[in-house]
Amino acid sequence: MKIVHIIEEVRQSVQAAKKQGAKIGLVPTMGALHAGHGSLIEAAMAECDFVVVTIFVNPTQFGPGEDLDKYPRTLKEDAAYCEKLGADLIFAPSDKEMYPASQLVWVDVDKLTEGLCGAKRPGHFRGVTTVCAKLFNIVGADIAYFGQKDAQQVAVIRQMVQGLNMLLEIRICPIVREPDGLAVSSRNQYLSADERQRAVCLSQALTQCKEQIDAGQRDAAILTARMRTVIEHYGGRIDYVEIVDAEILQPLHAIEGRVLIAVAVFFGRTRLIDNILLDLK
Ligand code: PAJ
Repeated sequence: MKIVHIIEEVRQSVQAAKKQGAKIGLVPTMGALHAGHGSLIEAAMAECDFVVVTIFVNPTQFGPGEDLDKYPRTLKEDAAYCEKLGADLIFAPSDKEMYPASQLVWVDVDKLTEGLCGAKRPGHFRGVTTVCAKLFNIVGADIAYFGQKDAQQVAVIRQMVQGLNMLLEIRICPIVREPDGLAVSSRNQYLSADERQRAVCLSQALTQCKEQIDAGQRDAAILTARMRTVIEHYGGRIDYVEIVDAEILQPLHAIEGRVLIAVAVFFGRTRLIDNILLDLK
């Protein structure tokens, strides 16, 4: 496995693989790799011949006062993990390599970015779509892999690919969870032992919501109120608890069709997100 830091080197390696007829898989990450990222790499390995993992803590998707400086940077461990899983190439560029001058070109997806995480993190998705568009162009992959954990990111990236007629395919992998249900995340390591225990309330609230829907409840106001009660009982500070249409991300009143139930909750200064996707006939 090779580790490269320069755009031109990625292009050369990928081109050489393509000449051999390889199908190219791309797994974009910000590093601090865990089992969630691992599941994307494994999915890429299963379907592609040459797998590129990008590791870049993208400054343009962090707002002022967010955790850009604190975000864990663990390239050595990440490289060992990728090697173990069998990835072919890591692209770990510097900020300067990705953003050599002040960025005058942005990729922006309207509407889908306004609610949920976008409401509290202005500019976040513009940073995500811009860096993903750049990574897609740099790597030239056939398929890129994303996690359902970041459900709004998935909807926004799909919209970008469709809206800009990008050639690559997007694959979405299920959320990887800890044994108690907490979604695996690089930010879980910020939690104290007590917060870590209480953080189980995100997945519990979602599971209970699904059970109520399975039992016939269709009123979003009742369902979200119950989820709020569960989360507040565990001392979580709610950012949002929403039930939205899975494609356009607009809030639903009476729920039907493909439905995304999404929560964002603070424990101390740590903001956790989780969601569940349902297909209601
Ligand atoms: P990062 O948070 O490092 O996540 C990289 C990918 O791993 C994303 O597609 C995310 O949804 C997926 N992932 C994280 N935790 C997961 C879990 N528990 N189960 C399944 N997949 C999981 O998301 C980003 O980085 C950035 O926004 C990026 C797309 C790299 C652009 O900078």
